[in-house]
Amino acid sequence: MARGPRVVRTVTALRRAVAPMRAADQTVALVPTMGALHAGHLALVHEARRRAKRVVVSIFVNPTQFAPHEDFGSYPRRFAADLAALAEFKVDVVWAPTAPVMYPDGFATRIVPEGAALAGLEDKFRPHFFGGVATVVAKLFAQVTPDVALFGQKDYQQLRVIAQMTKDLDLPVKVVGLPTVRERDGLALSSRNVYLTPNERQAAPVLYRVLRQSAARIKQDEPLPRVLAEGHEEIAGAGFALDYLEARHALTLAPIAARKDGPIRLLVAATIGKTRLIDNLGV
Ligand code: PAJ
Repeated sequence: MARGPRVVRTVTALRRAVAPMRAADQTVALVPTMGALHAGHLALVHEARRRAKRVVVSIFVNPTQFAPHEDFGSYPRRFAADLAALAEFKVDVVWAPTAPVMYPDGFATRIVPEGAALAGLEDKFRPHFFGGVATVVAKLFAQVTPDVALFGQKDYQQLRVIAQMTKDLDLPVKVVGLPTVRERDGLALSSRNVYLTPNERQAAPVLYRVLRQSAARIKQDEPLPRVLAEGHEEIAGAGFALDYLEARHALTLAPIAARKDGPIRLLVAATIGKTRLIDNLGV
């Protein structure tokens, strides 16, 4: 069996683990996660392994990116299974701080992202979210000092916000976004998929199906409003309450009226039963 990663739980221990890597001039890759790892996370770890000599995976269910009514309390936590999976990928260090380590008493500084973070997509439904994400990711970058950090396109707006923050603050990290890993029927892997009942799980691939069909029709120059309205209907017909299905500029996430103003990214968020799912696709 592969030797497990070294688990560190304080900033001092983390610095002690990373310092010899730096001293030996080894490159370090960081994969930030909230745990409950699935093949989507592990694809990031695999690519991290390829891109750097040393790999650090953070596992931290970040309370500041959940609103009080959201699923922080019930978010899946499977630390032992996560460690076993990471051992297979020869991860060097797992950075697993507790909330008081990440946010000690008196913590009083936050990053407030603008631009893509105010696009009117996830931010409209989760106004607290990108401030929480940007602040914790900036802290993770400062704590781990990686050369490269890997994120999934699954959380597309998050990826754009983090890329912009890294650029704006001159953080010396290369931010890399990797394609979404999916189930065979197209459903994007997500730690939240475990919340789906069997019937909901059966309906869930409609999101990716509509994204794919919409992208194909937009490429054929069908007008955006018609394509999106019909996509909306199909998603609602499958039992989802739709938050948004939108065509945006792939980099700025600004609204887009026609294909010629692209590159276009289609983004969707919808709730079935108690579970809110997001997905997206390039055109
Ligand atoms: P989490 O939801 O655990 O996701 C960790 C990383 O895995 C993110 O970059 C996410 O985009 C990526 N990911 C999730 N599902 C994926 C899939 N199906 N295919 C490819 N990549 C996928 O995103 C977060 O955690 C947090 O917001 C975090 C960035 C860690 C800050 O707390």
